[in-house]
Amino acid sequence: MSTVIRRGTIVTASDIVRADVLIEDGIVTSIAANLPAAGHDVVDATGCYLFPGGIDPHTHLDMPFGGTVTADDFRTGTIAAAFGGTTTVIDFALHAKGQSLHDAVRIWHGKAEGKAAVDYSFHVMIGDLREDVMREIPDVVEREGVSSFKVFMAYKGTFQVDDETLFRTLRMAADVGALVQVHAENGDVIDVLVREALAKGQIEPRYHALTRPPEAEGEATARAIRLAEIAKAPLYVVHVTCAQAADAISDARKRGLPIYGETCPQYLVCDIGDYDRPGFEGAKYVMSPPLREKWHQDVLWGKLANLELQAFGSDQCSFNFKGQKELGLHNFSLIPNGAPTIEDRMAILYHFGVNEGRIGLNKFVALTSTNVAKLFGLFPRKGTIAVGSDADIVIWDPEVERTITAETHHMNVDYNPFEGMRVKGKPRKVFLRGHLIVDGDSFLGEPGMGSFLRAGRFTPVNL
Ligand code: URP
Ligand code: ZN
Ligand code: ZN
Ligand code: ZN
Repeated sequence: MSTVIRRGTIVTASDIVRADVLIEDGIVTSIAANLPAAGHDVVDATGCYLFPGGIDPHTHLDMPFGGTVTADDFRTGTIAAAFGGTTTVIDFALHAKGQSLHDAVRIWHGKAEGKAAVDYSFHVMIGDLREDVMREIPDVVEREGVSSFKVFMAYKGTFQVDDETLFRTLRMAADVGALVQVHAENGDVIDVLVREALAKGQIEPRYHALTRPPEAEGEATARAIRLAEIAKAPLYVVHVTCAQAADAISDARKRGLPIYGETCPQYLVCDIGDYDRPGFEGAKYVMSPPLREKWHQDVLWGKLANLELQAFGSDQCSFNFKGQKELGLHNFSLIPNGAPTIEDRMAILYHFGVNEGRIGLNKFVALTSTNVAKLFGLFPRKGTIAVGSDADIVIWDPEVERTITAETHHMNVDYNPFEGMRVKGKPRKVFLRGHLIVDGDSFLGEPGMGSFLRAGRFTPVNL
């Protein structure tokens, strides 16, 4: 099985070159001008970019939350990802009360196997950080090939950990080449504000945002960074939404610390005003941390352009408006948190970033693929187009315009938070390890084609 992709423009995190690409047995084996076509399938990419397949560092597929389960599982979620140009997802294996970390990983393999249509690896989202769980971390890194662990500073009474636990986890992780990820919001403050709001009868979706102010995110982010500094540990802050948090990350990086930050498409193009949509539609935007005032978007764009934020994840966590979001009709704190974003992650960054002149093509690739592969132990097998790398390649047509809508998206959910937005730029073809899995509007792959990727240990990288 071999394919030559001809006449495209290859974009990596560092270069833009006109060249042909030869794929043999799922691997890129040659990159050169005018490769001979004889004996290979030939794909013409005239007028298109060749991007390394997107790597989404933040998805929640088939995840129980708030008494319900996400609408997208590994089958529907990864097919939607593929249509958007994403060929690897790193999903959060939820570690529940009473479980071991190994239990969580085993359960997540069961959800993904036979269903995933793109490659995948796991972070563990630690839901019950007991003493014995902390001591399991080295073994999980070594035996399971999972080297990143999300710890919560919010969700008081369920997932939230105290500073002692976070500090000791950071030290343990640093010792064994693991990367701690934090959900950074001050859960104690939020808990007080939520209780006060509900006592006053403030039940609508907008109070979700008003009870989780940006200062609570900024405070927790700065505190996590200081704890990491004392622990001499690297730290990755997931879903950064606001200036307060992003500035704390920039300050730490200026001091030379290995602190990394991720933001998501919804925080760039949606804002706090979306919670006031009529007819409970604000619930579609209930996620944590919440959407912010519009001015934060400019700050986030600036940080992406300078790579002060290094990674771009979807935080895909889909719940239907009908029946699921509605669980919180009379109490915003019961609305399942999250939004369906896996499919449009790359299109949003491309259109509002590249087309609108906020970031260049190399940064687009760094944020959506290369940096993620480097941070989570997948590089250089994933994250670039290079000889020896997996042939995960997106042929991206920069001229195709479309309107994002739930009527045509591939996610298994009844709304799209970006409904009605016009975007230019769309995958024409998507290859996973040399297999053509998306061709225009057709899915040619198969559930179960996706392979589990063991993540290497974290090594500090200059991004
Ligand atoms: O609201 C969100 N983001 N739901 C997913 C869980 C998380 O905290 O990432
Ligand atoms: Zn989170
Ligand atoms: Zn998340
Ligand atoms: Zn094949």
